[in-house]
Amino acid sequence: ANRKLFLLPGDGIGPEAMSEVRKLIAFMNAEESAGFETDEGLVGGSAYDAHGAAISDADMEKAMAADAVLFGAVGGPKWDGVPYEVRPEAGLLRLRKDMELFANLRPAICYPALAASSSLKPEVVEGLDILIVRELTGGVYFGEPKEIIDLGNGQKRGIDTQVYDTYEIERISGVAFELARTRRNEVCSMEKRNVMKSGVLWNEVVTATHKAKYSDVKLSHMLADAGGMQLVRWPKQFDVIVTDNLFGDMLSDVAAMLTGSLGMLPSASLGAPDPKTGSRKALYEPVHGSAPDIAGQGIANPIAMIASFAMCLRYSFNMVAEADRLEAAISSVLDSGLRTGDIMSEGCTRVSTSEMGDAVVKAYAG
Ligand code: NAI
Ligand code: MG
Repeated sequence: ANRKLFLLPGDGIGPEAMSEVRKLIAFMNAEESAGFETDEGLVGGSAYDAHGAAISDADMEKAMAADAVLFGAVGGPKWDGVPYEVRPEAGLLRLRKDMELFANLRPAICYPALAASSSLKPEVVEGLDILIVRELTGGVYFGEPKEIIDLGNGQKRGIDTQVYDTYEIERISGVAFELARTRRNEVCSMEKRNVMKSGVLWNEVVTATHKAKYSDVKLSHMLADAGGMQLVRWPKQFDVIVTDNLFGDMLSDVAAMLTGSLGMLPSASLGAPDPKTGSRKALYEPVHGSAPDIAGQGIANPIAMIASFAMCLRYSFNMVAEADRLEAAISSVLDSGLRTGDIMSEGCTRVSTSEMGDAVVKAYAG
């Protein structure tokens, strides 16, 4: 097989975390003939320093041509003053836009070894494994009109508009139903149909999509505010949650914190399948940012980046066995008591970024 990976390590701890994924890629190529072909580019502040843009057109083309993009993190105080259009985040936004990554997958998994250090009671989070599917390219973050108007009487008006079309709701709910089939076969759709027209349409289209193509999956609906409450009260009632851009942004951050540190959280963003080949554009990235406060010290937790690579194996290459093994390797390394600083607790062994990465490769190798 030849599997084209495009690596965009970015800024701050992005490159440090990406180095640990490179070790896994090298191992899988050498020992398992995985056939990964990697190329690498610049994004964020490092791209701005080199080309004056947050991602160059050449790197953008490589991202578009790859089977999957692995993205580290962008940003940092060094670039706080750069013009808005070329700020580091603009690189990620361009990737999402040009690759049409409309489905953002945010798993919230509680590793057994970390259940005791959750901010919730261990029994609430132990064994937790939920997946939030957030619509990423529509809704109130993009709808027009979007402006601030001067009302002329000392008052201004800020306007954002929530817009969803049928096709956008169909495709995001399709992704959620398909993923549910590979899991516990349950989807909970969240909106605010009691107060929003887009919520009424969301509910209708999810229901119709379910009836037409996915009636084997168990579907439920919840108002998004109640959903937030239920996520904190008893998160294990959920398997897959599908929701819009705004609610998904908030609910996925809430779900994330059920399970511990930012340094543990992976994500995937998927595009539409190519009508000819069936393959999807996809970008995998940790949820955390560039962590300037710890960058360059070799102490960042690489697990979020490594778990993002596990999602890449699962969703872009259908390497399900390898993804399962990699996730089990992460879990067993945590069981053995190794911890980076962000997840350190009493009685555990503190390790560096690179030691954590080595331990995961070793556990994966078995
Ligand atoms: P952050 O996620 O970079 O850091 C928040 C806190 O969590 C820091 O104390 C950091 O040390 C810690 N942390 C994060 N990841 C960690 C890891 N893997 N291991 C250990 N500790 C970790 O968020 P913050 O501080 O708000 O933003 C820093 C920069 O990152 C900003 O320039 C921001 O714009 C950018 N950012 C970029 C994102 C991206 O590339 N997708 C996402 C979020 C922020
Ligand atoms: Mg957010």
